[in-house]
Amino acid sequence: MPHSPVISIVAGARPNFMKVKPVLAALEARGTRVDLVHTGQHYDALMSDVFFDDLGLRAPDFHLSIGSGTQAEQVAKTMLAYEGLLASHPAEAVVVVGDVNATLACSIVGAKSGATVAHVEAGLRSRDWAMPEEVNRVVADRVSDLLLASSPDAVTNLLAEGYREDQIHLVGNTMIDSLLSNLDRARDRPVLAALGVRQGDYVLATLHRPSNVDDPEVLRGLVHVLSELSSTVPVVFAAHPRTSKALESHQLSKNVIVVGPQGYLDFIALQAGAAAVLTDSGGIQEETTVLGIPCLTLRTTTERPITVSEGTNQLVGVKPEAILAAALRVIDVPPAPRRPELWDGKAGERIADVLLRSLTVADWPRPTERIP
Ligand code: UD1
Repeated sequence: MPHSPVISIVAGARPNFMKVKPVLAALEARGTRVDLVHTGQHYDALMSDVFFDDLGLRAPDFHLSIGSGTQAEQVAKTMLAYEGLLASHPAEAVVVVGDVNATLACSIVGAKSGATVAHVEAGLRSRDWAMPEEVNRVVADRVSDLLLASSPDAVTNLLAEGYREDQIHLVGNTMIDSLLSNLDRARDRPVLAALGVRQGDYVLATLHRPSNVDDPEVLRGLVHVLSELSSTVPVVFAAHPRTSKALESHQLSKNVIVVGPQGYLDFIALQAGAAAVLTDSGGIQEETTVLGIPCLTLRTTTERPITVSEGTNQLVGVKPEAILAAALRVIDVPPAPRRPELWDGKAGERIADVLLRSLTVADWPRPTERIP
């Protein structure tokens, strides 16, 4: 009988679910046995369950129920739980996606278990060590055997860091696979009408990075921007739980329509209908690029420079006057839409091909031979 590998795919937090679905679907369509693991970093219905429903993502095989905590608590608890899981349910390959704490924790545990570790979204670099995600990206890449890159700049970063060419595969963007396959369903959602806004006639905002939300001075400035903007154009502010807590001590204009975290389809609909999006998220920079919607990123760095060079994104920093001026400018004169190479809805298929080939090629170099 031919050998059939078990592949463990890890998802932990909101931005992971739409990245794992296309990989899981492509592997299962090829008859591969996949163990889907939810670490439980995000657990609220609106941060987790709704994504499974909206994406048609099947229930996880294992739920580690990690919950919230400090960076170290979350990573340590995830490592302990995932180590136990791999001991009782071994996998030949571990697939981690993105840059959240689940990515870091499970890549390390996977590497030590002897599994082939594949990192989806490898090579992105903000070069900002104050971001927990940057540490997660660099470490996950370092312990991974297969580096699955979503853009050519990520490949360049990996080569510059000394990784071997045969480890690196430019496969496209799985988040965009999910976006393209769900866009029609998203456009049918009645969310704009429910919020009382019209297509092309509002600004959508999200904020959740600790550097913006946990620093009262920075948050005050960003609250001021949203309040000012809302006097000229409706503003819909989809607040992450971390942000809602921090907003309690700030005066946001009553004109700003504040809503909680949105489901996947509703949030795609809100992006697709916006005149512009203001955000500090990573994934939203990519989704707005493919949707052709102007995006202003409220940070001084991005790990996704391709959304600036070949998309609709602009890095505007966190100075209120600069953000306001840029917002009014892009609403008036939107940038021309462009789409990066291989952001075509087929990244999951390419990843399944690379992964299954690497597991069946007998002379494929082992991890220890790959250390740069
Ligand atoms: C995490 C990721 C970040 C990603 C973001 C998307 C890391 C280091 N950060 O940040 O890269 O962009 O998810 O949302 O992995 N909370 C809830 N309900 C939940 C989950 C969290 O209320 O279901 C609250 C808790 O108070 C928690 C806080 O949100 O302490 C922050 O959650 P956490 O998972 O620590 O980080 P995020 O800010 O969500």
